[in-house]
Amino acid sequence: MSDAASAIAIEDLRFRWQPTRDWVLDIPRLAIARGESVFLAGPSGSGKTSLLSLITGIAQPTEGCVRILDTRIDHLRGAARDRFRADHFGIVFQLFNLLPYLSVLENVLLSCEFSAARAQRAARRSGTPAGEAVRLLGRLGLTDPQLHRRPATELSVGQQQRVAAARALIGSPPVIVADEPTSALDADLRTEFVTLLLQEVVEAGSALLFVSHDRQLAAAFDREVDLRRFAPAPTPP
Ligand SMILES: Nc1ncnc2c1ncn2[C@@H]1O[C@H](COP(=O)(O)OP(=O)(O)OP(=O)(O)O)[C@@H](O)[C@H]1O
Ligand SMILES: [Mg+2]
Repeated sequence: MSDAASAIAIEDLRFRWQPTRDWVLDIPRLAIARGESVFLAGPSGSGKTSLLSLITGIAQPTEGCVRILDTRIDHLRGAARDRFRADHFGIVFQLFNLLPYLSVLENVLLSCEFSAARAQRAARRSGTPAGEAVRLLGRLGLTDPQLHRRPATELSVGQQQRVAAARALIGSPPVIVADEPTSALDADLRTEFVTLLLQEVVEAGSALLFVSHDRQLAAAFDREVDLRRFAPAPTPP
């Protein structure tokens, strides 16, 4: 696969959080195609969240290169990197990162506040960004308009997880990364959530990198990547 076809292209990546710490990741090559859905597995502490931080430019590689679409995100800094992230990524964080002083609806619309491109795409889909936010929340089982107006952190953890997913999906970003987005959902809701997420992702043509410990979900994705493949060699004493 050529890099031009990739949503995410990683080469010769090595990463540690601090110079005195052990290597967390050593990935010679990993490419995810535009529109491809990938299930990312690996034991706790194997570096899944670290890898998502590198892909989204929240952390910098110690060595090597991370390309998103046609852009070296590891070369972007400051405001340019924040803008690139807002325009191109939907991110479901492991701990959601919903803003407690905003309502459910405002949290979902936040992605459109930070990116005019996403606001336009959301409006194209449902008339207005708010209309698209309501559509996505409804698709994820949050249909009650009163609930949309409540502060996001007053919701149950499983409901917050779905608000975080709607915030990632709105405005059809070309790359969606989701860090254990089903951990708080019961088994039935989990399968339904993944089915809906994949439908939305296919309709939007987005690439999806989905982290989970739940191997039963893996079959629904185009491909599975296990981070154990990339475990760094132990540092010699
Ligand atoms: N902000 C940070 N600063 C320093 N070290 C970190 C930081 N975040 C993670 N680490 C370390 O990096 C390693 C990988 O952590 P990471 O969170 O990427 O694992 P993970 O695979 O996502 O685990 P889990 O399944 O528990 O979420 C761990 O050894 C962890 O202690
Ligand atoms: Mg993690």
